[in-house]
Amino acid sequence: MQNTTKTGKIPYKIYLNEEEMPKTWYNLRADMKQKPAPLLNPGTHQPMKAEELSAVFCEELIAQELDNDTAFFEIPEVIRNFYKMYRPSPLVRAYCLEEKLGTPAKIYYKFEGNNTSGSHKLNSAVAQAYYAKKQGLQGVTTETGAGQWGTALSMACAFFGLDCKVYMVKCSYEQKPFRREVMRTYGASVTPSPSMETEVGRKILAEHPGTTGSLGCAISEAVEKAVSSEGHRYVLGSVLNQVLLHQSVIGLETKAAMDKYGVKPDIIIGCAGGGSNLGGLIAPFMGEKLRGETDCRIIAVEPASCPSFTRGVYAYDFCDTGMVCPLAKMYTLGSDFIPSANHSGGLRYHGMSSTLSELYHQGLMEAVSVKQTEVFDAAEYFARVEGILPAPESSHAIRVAIDEAVRCRESGEEKTIVFGLTGTGYFDMMAYEKYHDGKMSDYIPSDEELAICRNKLPKVASEG
Ligand SMILES: Cc1ncc(COP(=O)(O)O)c(C=O)c1O
Repeated sequence: MQNTTKTGKIPYKIYLNEEEMPKTWYNLRADMKQKPAPLLNPGTHQPMKAEELSAVFCEELIAQELDNDTAFFEIPEVIRNFYKMYRPSPLVRAYCLEEKLGTPAKIYYKFEGNNTSGSHKLNSAVAQAYYAKKQGLQGVTTETGAGQWGTALSMACAFFGLDCKVYMVKCSYEQKPFRREVMRTYGASVTPSPSMETEVGRKILAEHPGTTGSLGCAISEAVEKAVSSEGHRYVLGSVLNQVLLHQSVIGLETKAAMDKYGVKPDIIIGCAGGGSNLGGLIAPFMGEKLRGETDCRIIAVEPASCPSFTRGVYAYDFCDTGMVCPLAKMYTLGSDFIPSANHSGGLRYHGMSSTLSELYHQGLMEAVSVKQTEVFDAAEYFARVEGILPAPESSHAIRVAIDEAVRCRESGEEKTIVFGLTGTGYFDMMAYEKYHDGKMSDYIPSDEELAICRNKLPKVASEG
């Protein structure tokens, strides 16, 4: 798409000022004609009501979760002030990358790694901690995969004076001891999952001795801990509608920055674990697409080792391995699927956001899966050219952005490519080390392996 520069050459970094930061979050569901399927009660298979969710989640977050119609939610002033500690985040025009690739494409990335937690997760952590505090709770429990979400929540809980109990996927706990210490610095208690602390953890360990854990297992443990602890609720760092809502701040800032220079994206790319950064980045652009105002390609990038969109099925499934959570309709590999212990901890989730799943199902976005070594090729290339050391998760988006830019070089097209650089990789150096030592492998699950887990999906009558 033609870039008509309104105010001259586009700077390397476009920064909004604090007054230009969004005052509302945007709820993409309001513009969807076909809404995402509702969460179902796992016992009755009826849509979950607010009162049924209240033992697990905070009240205002439930209201946000169930609201498919309100387009804009005001961002409370306390949260806006907290955001100012690290937002607005820059939208970077990757001139060095463009030059190195010799592409006519214009590449932009929205950099969310400039806070201590190192990723976009803080955008929702502070919101969720705020509503927990407002409800008068004592603390929250959660899971963490790569550790970014746990770190972000620890920071947010420290700010509001809340207890924070984190179940960390065992392989990440072992690969990233310093992540754990950062969380403890902010006052959180961190347990490797599955653990012997909860009934569901003990059950999973009995069935899968020696398992390195998964996000699905850690979620089950955190939910059990929340419902069995007075004054506690469970909070989740991705997948849920409310999390996508909070993350819309990424897309709203991106759009505001691009609008300043009259730039429109042709392709938007984001990595997809549970879908929160991608859902947030694309929100206002997808809104325009849904309203028929503009169009662009949107690409979700997932690891070939955990290919929920590209090889999963669109069906109701449990959000967790222990089957204690509501059923969500999503692209899933089956809640029993335990991905191999690869290094993109934050993308090792068997399912996907219901909202993104519905958009993908309607053909409004695309998905691709990429192999781990190819992701690290892109990560290293990007670090050397653009200077930022990217998180392995974010590097999935880098991989596909580079591939698209190379395609433009071949076709001569001057496309505008935007991708989400969700975080930094300082705590992922063991993965980088494996890559540099040639010890990194590309695990791809077989069709048989996927079929076993798919056959265990719950049977939901409305699904036929
Ligand atoms: C840096 C980073 N990017 C992306 C993700 C993927 O999560 P989501 O799909 O919810 O954005 C994670 C998850 O932990 C992460 O840590």
